[in-house]
Amino acid sequence: MRIPIIAGNWKMNTTVSEAADLVRAMQAQLAALTGVERVLCPPFVSLTTVGQIIRGSAVKLGAQNMHYEEKGAYTGEVSPLMLGGLCEYVILGHSERRQYFGETDELVNRKVKAALKAGLKPIVCVGERLDENEAGKTEEVIVREVRGGLSGVEAPTSLVIAYEPIWAIGTGKAATGPQANATISLIRRTVAQLYGDGFAEGLRVQYGGSVTAANIAEFISQPHIDGALVGGASLKAAEFVSIVEQTARIKKG
Ligand code: PGA
Repeated sequence: MRIPIIAGNWKMNTTVSEAADLVRAMQAQLAALTGVERVLCPPFVSLTTVGQIIRGSAVKLGAQNMHYEEKGAYTGEVSPLMLGGLCEYVILGHSERRQYFGETDELVNRKVKAALKAGLKPIVCVGERLDENEAGKTEEVIVREVRGGLSGVEAPTSLVIAYEPIWAIGTGKAATGPQANATISLIRRTVAQLYGDGFAEGLRVQYGGSVTAANIAEFISQPHIDGALVGGASLKAAEFVSIVEQTARIKKG
């Protein structure tokens, strides 16, 4: 049995005090829900504050990115060692990092290795662009990103993969449940080739891209979808709680 995992990716939103308000608005309800792992990924500068507010509850913390070096002359960057004491998860290879900051599969791969070495749990994002999707290249892109991101990585102690079709992120145009399920099944088969069937069977794969309280049920009721990486809707306390609550209910079956 895979424990479902819902992560809120706040992206570059909320000041420190807004982040505190947001987590306070959802904390009690989130903490009370069971059967689903809940992860909040605020901006770096709010990790400490949000961490203090959720301390002692089962709600977990994640970062949205990191550098692969432990320390050094990399102005403006945050290292795995720095995150080590602050949070448990780290999102790596988000499509916005790939698109706006030139992150390649090789770079994502370095980060995955560095995160695992530091004891962080990577949430590795993969997904095809609209033109790739329309050209029938989804499979090719997904296999390349999964294999590229995990190249040279021994069976990881912890791994979550998020399938986020780029055309569905922030656009209000989500994939359909069956579409996402089919691609996530492909991700599981690809991981099975790397680490074996048992590992792939236990691997949690999230769907991401315009997930809302109104459509989460469609995704989470699919057999291969183990949760969601939620952007915009994770900035609304009641909506995020509803997404977690529906996930818990549906997965308990
Ligand atoms: P969205 O973002 O839910 O706002 O589409 C998802 C993501 O980019 O992780």
